[in-house]
Amino acid sequence: MTQHHTYQKFIFLFLAGTVLFLYNCTTNTIDEGDIQDLPPIEETVTYDDDVAPIIASNCIGCHSGPNANAGLDLSNYANVRGAAEQGNLVNRINNGSNPMPPSGILPPETRQIIDQWIADGYLEN
Ligand code: HEC
Repeated sequence: MTQHHTYQKFIFLFLAGTVLFLYNCTTNTIDEGDIQDLPPIEETVTYDDDVAPIIASNCIGCHSGPNANAGLDLSNYANVRGAAEQGNLVNRINNGSNPMPPSGILPPETRQIIDQWIADGYLEN
């Protein structure tokens, strides 16, 4: 094999790797496709009844008190709503490659409740 061919092979591998990398980015981040496959939630979703228990069992351990991770305290309605309105909360909950909680992405049924709460206008109770 000539040096020229080796160079072409390198370029090919580099391009293939770049395509794979970009493909991974588009499929792994902010993918709510699995939620769209679920039947719609019929009943009213509120913070007190539905959202607070999800946050309490999945987020509060790291996101409350004076040492809250990323300075993000999710222990009350106003703060959770603020994070949701800003967009970060939904992005991270649905981020397959960098999810919150870090231990693994929540089931689509759980993330759908958060989406519905936002769509319904952040009802408190
Ligand atoms: C085991 C600890 C832990 C748990 C549990 C956890 N987080 Fe986090 N979270 C972190 C850490 C550490 C960071 C900062 C590093 C990063 O952004 O990955 C962070 C960052 C974030 C951010 C980005 C904040 C910013 O300003 O960039 C959001 C939003 C968030 N978490 C939401 C949540 C939600 C919602 C839950 C529950 C569904 C959750 N986290 C559960 C540790 C945790």
